[in-house]
Amino acid sequence: METAKMIIDRDYTLSSTDENLFCSFVEPLGRCIYGGLYEPGHPSADEKGFRRDVLELIKPLNLTMNRFPGGNYTSTFRWEDSVGPKEKRPRRAEVAWQCIETNEFGLNEFAEWSKLNGSDVMMTVNLATRGVLEAMDCVEYCNLEGGTYWSDMRRSHGYTAPHGYKYWCLSNEIDGPWQVGQNTGSNYGLLAREASKAMKLVDPEIKTVLAGSSSPDMPSFPDFDVAALDAAWEQVDYLSVHNYISNLKGDTPNYLAKPLTTDLFFKRIGGLFSYIKAKKRSSHDLFISFDEFNTWHTVAGNERMEKPRWGIAPTLLEDVYNMEDAVALGSMLITVLRNCDLVKIACLSELCNCISHIRTRNGGGCWVLPPYYAFLHFSRYGRGTVLIPRISSPKYDTRDYTDVPYLDAVPVINDDGTLTVFAVNRSLMESMPLRIELRGFEGIYVPDECITMSHPDPKATNTEGNPDNVRPRTGVADVEDGILCADLDPLSWNVIRLRKQQ
Ligand code: AHR
Repeated sequence: METAKMIIDRDYTLSSTDENLFCSFVEPLGRCIYGGLYEPGHPSADEKGFRRDVLELIKPLNLTMNRFPGGNYTSTFRWEDSVGPKEKRPRRAEVAWQCIETNEFGLNEFAEWSKLNGSDVMMTVNLATRGVLEAMDCVEYCNLEGGTYWSDMRRSHGYTAPHGYKYWCLSNEIDGPWQVGQNTGSNYGLLAREASKAMKLVDPEIKTVLAGSSSPDMPSFPDFDVAALDAAWEQVDYLSVHNYISNLKGDTPNYLAKPLTTDLFFKRIGGLFSYIKAKKRSSHDLFISFDEFNTWHTVAGNERMEKPRWGIAPTLLEDVYNMEDAVALGSMLITVLRNCDLVKIACLSELCNCISHIRTRNGGGCWVLPPYYAFLHFSRYGRGTVLIPRISSPKYDTRDYTDVPYLDAVPVINDDGTLTVFAVNRSLMESMPLRIELRGFEGIYVPDECITMSHPDPKATNTEGNPDNVRPRTGVADVEDGILCADLDPLSWNVIRLRKQQ
């Protein structure tokens, strides 16, 4: 393959990354919680039933916060069911995933688990089948000190200090026909505006997230978003955007190009923001909350309908992610960084078992799938100031895309001054010579760490018995006279880090 070239100039800054780009999503769906984060009686469970072995895999991800509890789950969620003495909590027919929800693990259990993990909670209220009042009550329960009905109720449940949640999603994917309580953009926009206004009257410190299109392929995109934004603009702070990419047709080169659509989706949403802001002569700004994204291959509806209904925590949406998914996710993460002037919250969907790179066996072990490492590196080394690179890469065409660059990459200056370059080689067959010209970096930069992950078999994955089949290893990069050279393996995820020589 021809050499891919990149210029990184120290002065061409895009934006600093928001702490909230490094988040995940926890939904009481399948075995995400039950049999995942929580399994009383498991040999590694603590006295509360939280699995310590799973927590040990999650902690290194250094998650800022986790969105909870949904997801489609939110649309019939009565938050009050999930608090108070466990023996009094109702069992519900949870219709989104056709399961029984025992409510054994609820709002306060998630607060406790999050404390253990050192992460915050991004709470979702149900505006699909409930209203403004229930949303206000939930803010009061979670955030007020005491002296009111709901805050005293929380105290009586054993939680004296308020949870103090700052970020609140105003329902989820309300544009989707699969949603209980689907709505139009304008109706939903009005409801969300009033809910946000009222919730902020309870706690003026909170920030709210308006639900936007659940995918760039929705026929109602962008009309739904325009109508909802038009109604709620001044009262909300973020627009929720979701995007899952899949390889259902088994066309990997095409699949690996799909983050280009994610990029376009962000740019189009940015255009809608400009339009509404201009139309309203507003000085208010909104940002993107990319609060569900991942690769996802099982067709949710089909899988759900094939299973017997009303099970408790069945195996659902447990895609076995492999090496090519790691590269596809890596490219999505690069896309998030490349748009970090607009995207201020990002939640990888989901944290455990369902659409997740952390897998458990009930009563047994836990292990990680290859994309776990791409997110780990993103969270560990993606914080700082993103630079705008110039990239010239050999290209290819696919069924849905033309001129797809084999190289996808983004540079970040970390707060300690280290330069980190994330890069993927999308070619399945050929390694890629990469030449990066460094401009404006005073002093001599030397390789600090070079991480690479690839495998001769694109479908290779990890299992409980063979958990290290695909894992990162040390790669090679050289810097001479301000030129960085590396050779990227076919279908690889790479992290090249340079530090200033003392
Ligand atoms: O993450 C699984 C589901 O995907 C979520 O519940 C929903 O928001 C999306 O459609």
